[in-house]
Amino acid sequence: MCGIVGAIAQRNVTPILLEGLRRLEYRGYDSAGLAVLDAEGHLQRARAMGKVIELENLLDAEPLQGHIGIAHTRWATHGKPAERNAHPHQSGSIAVVHNGIIENHAPLRQRLQSLGYQFSSDTDTEVIAHLLHHHLQQGQDILQALRATLAELHGAYALGIIHEAEPDTLYCARMGSPLVIGEGSEEHYLASDPLAMLQVTDRFRYLEEGDYARMGINHCQIWDRQHQPADRPVQRYEHAAHSLDKGEYRHYMLKEMFEQPQAVADTLAGTLADDHVLTAVLGPEAETRLADIRHIHIVACGTSYHAGLVARYWIEEMAGIPCQVEVASEYRYRTVVVPDNSLLICISQSGETADTLAALRHARQLGYLGTLAICNVAGSSLVREADWRLLTHAGPEIGVASTKAFTTQLTALLWLTTALLQVRGCDQPQVAGNVSALRRLPTLIEQVLGLEPQIVQLAERFANKHHALFLGRGSHYPIAMEGALKLKEISYIHAEAYAAGELKHGPLALVDEDMPVVSVAPSDSLLEKLLSNLEEVRARGGQLITFACETTEQRSDANHTIINLPWVEDCISPLVYTLPLQLLSYHVALVKGTDVDKPRNLAKSVTVE
Ligand code: G6P
Repeated sequence: MCGIVGAIAQRNVTPILLEGLRRLEYRGYDSAGLAVLDAEGHLQRARAMGKVIELENLLDAEPLQGHIGIAHTRWATHGKPAERNAHPHQSGSIAVVHNGIIENHAPLRQRLQSLGYQFSSDTDTEVIAHLLHHHLQQGQDILQALRATLAELHGAYALGIIHEAEPDTLYCARMGSPLVIGEGSEEHYLASDPLAMLQVTDRFRYLEEGDYARMGINHCQIWDRQHQPADRPVQRYEHAAHSLDKGEYRHYMLKEMFEQPQAVADTLAGTLADDHVLTAVLGPEAETRLADIRHIHIVACGTSYHAGLVARYWIEEMAGIPCQVEVASEYRYRTVVVPDNSLLICISQSGETADTLAALRHARQLGYLGTLAICNVAGSSLVREADWRLLTHAGPEIGVASTKAFTTQLTALLWLTTALLQVRGCDQPQVAGNVSALRRLPTLIEQVLGLEPQIVQLAERFANKHHALFLGRGSHYPIAMEGALKLKEISYIHAEAYAAGELKHGPLALVDEDMPVVSVAPSDSLLEKLLSNLEEVRARGGQLITFACETTEQRSDANHTIINLPWVEDCISPLVYTLPLQLLSYHVALVKGTDVDKPRNLAKSVTVE
């Protein structure tokens, strides 16, 4: 959700900033902009509507050079996508880039207007630039002006600031939106995500809530929210070894789907023994408290929420622990009853989703036994703020539609369920069965991804569709939800998922010969029930597409296309059945000609509420 980069060096930083923006573009792509201080120390700015390539074209025509600069790729919140709303925003000789939302921007704008400031954009960010300017006019130095400005802002921000008066200093601040400082040799960088700067460094200082900092080529000073000097140690970025380009693949999403066998294997590395799981990977405190857990609450957003919904079936069925799952945006504003010995699990690919982070912070006062982050980014806010952590090792996920993050979350959640089962001393055969199924996963995933050619043909049928239904039962109902979400996100086809048993309570009214009905039908105890539900669709002429287990020997006919998957153990079946749905949405998006990796209106990491 918007991306910020900044750099100070002894060389021209424009190429570093542009490369940073390219790497962050998956976060927001309505418009982009850049500001540098040129050789004479004057602020120069370039902004363009649309993707980063538009800004690059502009800079090709009219190059900007400077040894210090800030840049931004935008996902519009206040003010529609337009050049005048693109960052950096400027007030006199100050330029600012901002991620987040300033909630009190309206009264601040009014006050600044009454002081004579003229606004040239509809954004909340412009108030920050003018406030800084205003405080500087009062005779304060930049640091004092920054402190005074931050004290007046309500809401979330990550800021990068440059000013003609201090051409050798880059300022930044963070509250509610992530920001890191990269360390180079006689260079410093700023980024809302370390990925943006991996081309120049893998060493980062992670700013904490309320921190602000100033940096030059050789120095970096950080203060905490009490204005005390803060030591934020330099950490190496874990995923640095992963390739960040698309390689031979046409899209990141395709690459990431085909990385799933490896991502799942990496997530499981060091977590399994012969017939049991190695609970030590949770850390000593979590390991000892695991047996005390009597209730579990899971909160997450989007695809991560769907992973939580699958986990509820596993946790209640196998470990016998009551489990509630909720979207973080609801949980954070609700009165939640927390029974004794409850564990809160927050699931997030990025570890920076605003609602999930707020839910974790809200939960701190609620008396949980502990909080566990299941997350793909080791240095993220979620991982740093939760009591315990279980990392997925999917590597960076760039495609906005989540794929390998989801399957690795499911892997981690099945592992956790097995750990709970194990520490409770029950059902050793089930523990051993889960371990052996988990081991089989990478090979199985590879095999199922081999269905791609069949799915390519299927996708053609969606070319003129505007609606689709997805059906599943039991732990495959959330997989149907995830399938519908994927199709919506990247092909813009309206898709809804239903627990198949609910069909006749409403959605059946929508079924006619134009309606594709996609179902996931593994060979489990609910198969017969599901098949009856599908007959109800067939009787109304609906176009059935079913992903089924080869052992059930279902056959395609004129109105029913069956795609067979290999037999898999019940416990890993949701994970395996999600794969053809990912492939389907990808190929439908290709048929529709949409922008697969950067679907309209969406962003990868939602760091605003
Ligand atoms: C956005 C992304 C989704 C993701 C969701 C939650 O909506 O487009 O792919 O599932 O945020 O993100 P998180 O990083 O918390 O898993």
